[in-house]
Amino acid sequence: MMGFKQVTIYAALLAVDQTLASHTLVQRAAHSIHQKAIWHTHNLAQDLRVAFGTMLVSRANVDSSDHVVYCKSGSQAPFSSSEGNATSSASPTKSTGSAGKATSTIAGSSPTSTSTSAASPWNLVESHQGQDFFNGWSFFTGADPTNGIVTYVDQNTANSSGLVSINSQGHAIMKVDATAVVASTRNSVRITTNSQYNGGLFIMDSVHMPTGCGIWPAFWTNGPNWPVDGEIDIVEGVNNYTNNQATVHTNVGCTLASSNSNTLSISGTVVGGTDCAALTTGNQGCGIRAATSNSFGSGFNSNGGGVYAMVWDADGIAVYFFPANAIPADITAGAPLPDSWGAAQARWPATSCAPFQFFVNHSAIFDTTLCGDWASGVWSSSGLPGQEQSCAARTGVSTCEAFVRANGASMSEAYWEIRSVKIYQTQS
Ligand SMILES: *[C@@H]1O[C@H](CO)[C@@H](O)[C@H](O)[C@H]1NC(C)=O
Ligand SMILES: *[C@@H]1O[C@H](CO)[C@@H](O)[C@H](O)[C@H]1NC(C)=O
Ligand SMILES: *[C@@H]1O[C@H](CO)[C@@H](O)[C@H](O)[C@H]1NC(C)=O
Ligand SMILES: *[C@@H]1O[C@H](CO)[C@@H](O)[C@H](O)[C@H]1NC(C)=O
Repeated sequence: MMGFKQVTIYAALLAVDQTLASHTLVQRAAHSIHQKAIWHTHNLAQDLRVAFGTMLVSRANVDSSDHVVYCKSGSQAPFSSSEGNATSSASPTKSTGSAGKATSTIAGSSPTSTSTSAASPWNLVESHQGQDFFNGWSFFTGADPTNGIVTYVDQNTANSSGLVSINSQGHAIMKVDATAVVASTRNSVRITTNSQYNGGLFIMDSVHMPTGCGIWPAFWTNGPNWPVDGEIDIVEGVNNYTNNQATVHTNVGCTLASSNSNTLSISGTVVGGTDCAALTTGNQGCGIRAATSNSFGSGFNSNGGGVYAMVWDADGIAVYFFPANAIPADITAGAPLPDSWGAAQARWPATSCAPFQFFVNHSAIFDTTLCGDWASGVWSSSGLPGQEQSCAARTGVSTCEAFVRANGASMSEAYWEIRSVKIYQTQS
């Protein structure tokens, strides 16, 4: 376990780094602590990709075999998405045509959609779909902070080796290298939106997510300065899990108002503690597991996927899931009405976790790592939905790393297939 003192030093360094952007000593010290963190902790390192997620970039002029990482310069990623607007909630309506009004004439039906027209308070500001899906994302190429046996590659490499593509249906594909046998890592993809937000509605429509023994995918949001700026894991799990686990990790002071699902008005179950602070709980975070087995992994995929929506507003943060056959018409119409969606899968109410204090300047992120702290850590565990039998027993291989390195064929399900990612802000 990483000592708390180390964590404190580390956090202080991050603060220092905000002002001493390019100071080499600071970079080296942070790098050193990063390495120590990776080598000395499990619980914390599990989410250290978060800590370093937007700070670490590969050093362009070093050996590609040398996963040296360093703190990014103090300049924040600019709000550079041509469609994004993180600085104001008063951005003008974009050309979605349908934003702003729901209609009752949209094809298809949903158990939770309303039959009357209602104005959506949400305004589309950033949309990723079709041929342009990958515009507005940066490809992360640093070492995986969670110890996964992946090499995150840049966009050109990912494209030329077929790891990213747009399929004939216009869906974005992000795969993992399926070479039969590898000596150390498999190439994979991790992308982060260039834009950052304070509040918003993030809607991710997916047909397929990575799944299988050794595979650890996530769709999440994160601020530049972890854990002060918070982390929201919207979709996450490992191995053969079939029930999603949504989690927040924060600075000290954010708690989950209750551990009771009825009190929280959620369909999921609180599985971690109610103290969401990373530094005082070994980074357990406030985790909530979905009740339904079509919410993650093979259950999600065999059901045709579905839509995840994360609402981050003055009421707090909530994660909703709609399986493919029950997507509300207001979402399909581009005029989302979260108040009509019924119980959230997970929720962290504002009453005990100020949503604009503990979560700041978030980008959205997709990644797929292999083994690493979580998927390796539970390789021999069983008993969770989808994981009735451990991966060690299922594969007959005693370690995650040995299995993943020697079985490229097991990567056949390790891909994201995304219809769209849409980010909304409230209208003024
Ligand atoms: C972002 O919001 C500001 C302030 O309302 C506005 O001036 C600007 O045009 C917006 N930018 C975009 C890209 O919507
Ligand atoms: C892949 O490369 C081709 C050819 O340069 C380009 O047209 C396409 O947009 C690229 N796709 C991605 C996802 O980068
Ligand atoms: C679990 O993972 C193994 C190994 O990747 C795979 O062969 C199997 O199909 C998975 N089982 C389910 C139910 O997803
Ligand atoms: C959030 O981003 C803005 C714009 O770059 C910056 O001015 C602000 O200081 C950031 N907030 C925090 C808490 O880092």
